[in-house]
Amino acid sequence: MNVNKMKKRAAWAALDYIHPGTVVGVGTGTTVFYFIEALSTIKHLISGAVSSSHASTVLLQKKGIEVFNIKDFRSLTIYVDSADEMNRFMHMTKGGGAALTREKILAAMAKKFLCIIDKSKIVDILGQFPLPIEIVPIAFSYIFEEMIKMGGQPKYRKNVITDNGNIIIDVYNLHIKDPISMEKKINALPGVVTVGLFAARIADVILIGEENSIKTINNKQNKSF
Ligand code: 5RP
Repeated sequence: MNVNKMKKRAAWAALDYIHPGTVVGVGTGTTVFYFIEALSTIKHLISGAVSSSHASTVLLQKKGIEVFNIKDFRSLTIYVDSADEMNRFMHMTKGGGAALTREKILAAMAKKFLCIIDKSKIVDILGQFPLPIEIVPIAFSYIFEEMIKMGGQPKYRKNVITDNGNIIIDVYNLHIKDPISMEKKINALPGVVTVGLFAARIADVILIGEENSIKTINNKQNKSF
């Protein structure tokens, strides 16, 4: 199974959801980099983009797509992004690229959140991929302790300062059986900026790249898959 081929297939299929004149919300990561390549082929049809990270902004601009400031928007027509893991209830973990806070903001602002993943991201229980948490630096020891109490093994992500000036810890070995309540619980800890659990706001449409096809999940029709 060629993961990159499946990522690319999902990324290009996302073009069907981009309407002329739209300002497109763009996520972060390797799958999204394929999406940016695809988007550049229709750049004359869109108005521009808002981006969840410095890395995506640079790539969008390189491809000749204008990037606007998120601050100037109250809502977005569409946001396209990937995920690190997804369970069958469409709860996700995200943040492998350290852009989780802006990703969550864009997802919340979007009328349509389109998630593009390859099928290797589908899991029974979230937590095999370490759960990223963006925190303000002085809360480091406290949040470490709280994560150990929750049964995880936190690790500081070395040499990473987020676009918001914070740090990331990755929590290993969590078996996230109730993603909605864990998202609430971790988000409520003082010092946490964002946890990379996307369970309260799931994607509206999910495109899963498979070996030879695309699977489309529309969450208005499917409560699980
Ligand atoms: C970045 C993210 C990405 O969507 C996630 O890490 C998936 O990345 P990739 O497409 O490289 O597998 O949340 O913060």
